[in-house]
Amino acid sequence: MVSSQPKYDLIREKIRCHAPENVELALREFWALSSIKSQHPNVIHLEECILQKDGMVQKMSHGSNSSLYLQLVETSLKGEIAFDPRSAYYLWFVMDFCDGGDMNEYLLSRKPNRKTNTSFMLQLSSALAFLHKNQIIHRDLKPDNILISQSRLDTSDLEPTLKVADFGLSKVCSASGQNPEEPVSVNKCFLSTACGTDFYMAPEVWEGHYTAKADIFALGIIIWAMLERITFIDTETKKELLGSYVKQGTEIVPVGEALLENPKMELLIPVKKKSMNGRMKQLIKEMLAANPQDRPDAFELELRLVQIAFKDSSWET
Ligand SMILES: Nc1ncnc2c1ncn2[C@@H]1O[C@H](COP(=O)(O)OP(=O)(O)O)[C@@H](O)[C@H]1O
Ligand SMILES: [Mg+2]
Repeated sequence: MVSSQPKYDLIREKIRCHAPENVELALREFWALSSIKSQHPNVIHLEECILQKDGMVQKMSHGSNSSLYLQLVETSLKGEIAFDPRSAYYLWFVMDFCDGGDMNEYLLSRKPNRKTNTSFMLQLSSALAFLHKNQIIHRDLKPDNILISQSRLDTSDLEPTLKVADFGLSKVCSASGQNPEEPVSVNKCFLSTACGTDFYMAPEVWEGHYTAKADIFALGIIIWAMLERITFIDTETKKELLGSYVKQGTEIVPVGEALLENPKMELLIPVKKKSMNGRMKQLIKEMLAANPQDRPDAFELELRLVQIAFKDSSWET
């Protein structure tokens, strides 16, 4: 018997547009997700984005010349509200509903499991290769921006599906200046806005001159922390978060920040004996290389992780 899986969508009020920063986050998410022409199982899918002002609603479309949409773009560009601030202006994002919380909550509420770790690494590297192929640099990869869709767990013993979400800081790299038809490689598209979350930020992001290789670094921090269960306490929220770091005396310092100070620093990977094999250790070291050019790109990363997963004798157990 074929069981019909319920299809969940979530309409959530993403942004109340009362400050230019909110508008910018919402537009970045909209531009990135609406620029993707196909779907990927591990990337959150945006069904549509609806713009609401007072009693009026309209579907938001990229490049539209509706005055409401143009007011939002103007707000984001000028950094000041370009419409009557008294009007209730909202953007609604209709997207996949992830019912299993985020990767952080999921992993930290369970015992470490090799099969889950392997599945998560493969899903994340596949999502990143897809995003980079679609010219999108995420810029804020971290376990709380990776959501879990558990619905298929009800019917099988498969691992849950991860969905990379929160594209509020993402950047779509447009076509190259010389030939507008030719897509630019995300690994050659240089960005200068230092943004992200410090523990996952690559050294060159701290400096403000980086490419898509910054996403590889963030994923390196996530994978290393997942395999060894390395966590820290977020000073603001007091939440325990998965993320690896460097110890300097009693202080814990983001790996990227420490590498910026000392690019020759040797990272102690793994911290615990036997938490990963030699190939995995080598791959994480390369993902966290101080020089972005020494990191694998997303396509090589995906391939190497698939090879590691299938060579790993514990894969079937
Ligand atoms: N598609 C979704 N399904 C379920 N929960 C979601 C979804 N999108 C966001 N959330 C919830 O909202 C939180 C914040 O969303 P996020 O996109 O990361 O925005 P921000 O971090 O900018 O507030 C997520 O951690 C998650 O709990
Ligand atoms: Mg977030």
